[in-house]
Amino acid sequence: MKKLLSVVGARPNFIKIAPLDKAFKKYRKEVKHLICHTGQHFDDRMSKVFFEDLGLPRPDFYLGIGGGSHAEQTARIMLELEKVLLAEKPDLVIVPGDVNSTLAAALVASKMGIPVAHVEAGLRSFDNTMPEEINRIVTDVVSDYLFVSEHSGIRNLRDEGVDEHKIHFVGNIMIDSLEAHYEMLENNTIVGQMGLEPENYILATFHRPSNVDDQENLKALMDTLKRLSKERPLVFPVHPRTRKNLAAFGLDKRLPKSLILTEPLGYIEFLALMRYAELVITDSGGIQEETTYMGVQCITVRKNTERPVTIDVGTNHLVGTDLEKVEKVAMDILGGITKPGRIPELWDGKTGKRIAEIIVENIA
Ligand code: UD1
Ligand code: UDP
Repeated sequence: MKKLLSVVGARPNFIKIAPLDKAFKKYRKEVKHLICHTGQHFDDRMSKVFFEDLGLPRPDFYLGIGGGSHAEQTARIMLELEKVLLAEKPDLVIVPGDVNSTLAAALVASKMGIPVAHVEAGLRSFDNTMPEEINRIVTDVVSDYLFVSEHSGIRNLRDEGVDEHKIHFVGNIMIDSLEAHYEMLENNTIVGQMGLEPENYILATFHRPSNVDDQENLKALMDTLKRLSKERPLVFPVHPRTRKNLAAFGLDKRLPKSLILTEPLGYIEFLALMRYAELVITDSGGIQEETTYMGVQCITVRKNTERPVTIDVGTNHLVGTDLEKVEKVAMDILGGITKPGRIPELWDGKTGKRIAEIIVENIA
């Protein structure tokens, strides 16, 4: 019996590990799957709600790390995780995504000689000012199994000279979670409860430091959202980083009624709001993919994306950070000028199964 340890820490990690945890259940005789939660995200609405909504078991280990500078957070995770790995001696460490927990776990495990599997490998924004880009590059360099969600990931890894036998094109695991819950969204009542009409409201999320840490940028963004909320009710579930900055800059006051700020929402509630939105405006990585799967128009307020398939094949509009342009594209979409999209290859709800099969074949 081999021991596998997945390390998760932030909201999108929980969504990516749930399908894999389920897929390993088929291999109970071959592998034992343990979960370590670093505590990078710790509010109930950023953590507990996802374990509940996704039917994830309680984590086997909780490191209680919390926030801090990049160095503090990464270093604390490394110190605490090293103790767990020394005690547990797993045969493989699995890390999803591109957050500091991903990087820290990949570094600790690889230096202890424990093989590492990176789920969502190969994505590149080619923008090293994004903390996630550094996390992606370093994690991929030290990983033994690179599970790739879209073709650009294969190209990027090949261009970086990665051994072909490490690269596995398996599709998008975040879509496994979405696919598993998609039908039940029809019965969800959140749209009505919020006084909204399907296909007649905008949903927005923002948490990238480049958009929300700078006072001028965040003020300009809020002004844009205020103007757009005159066209359609606009729901804005606010990430803790953004919440802190809105309060610090005094930007959370005197908002029009049509601009509805909420706490971060649970996974199912948020998916339901996304499914029935006329338009989503975001800087999230995962939301670019989920809107593409659902065929919902999405404006990405960033200069680049590490998920180009959502632009080439999906319904994502990469508009940049010029907010006049964002407003213009939003108005076009609300006026009916929309982009058709398709579902990318292997975004079929079976990625977890493919990954589990490859891991079990190779290590059990
Ligand atoms: C992190 C990831 C980012 C990912 C995002 C998903 C890194 C470098 N960044 O960004 O890639 O897109 O998660 O949401 O790993 N906070 C709370 N309560 C919480 C969580 C965070 O108050 O439950 C506070 C923290 O204390 C900190 C701030 O929010 O002050 C930012 O948290 P942090 O995890 O450092 O980065 P995120 O912006 O969440
Ligand atoms: N999400 C959620 N509630 C919210 C906002 C987002 O459940 O209030 C989900 C969203 O559907 C997606 C994931 O969180 O599955 C994306 O996380 P986030 O945008 O924080 O991180 P990123 O993908 O940018 O790393």
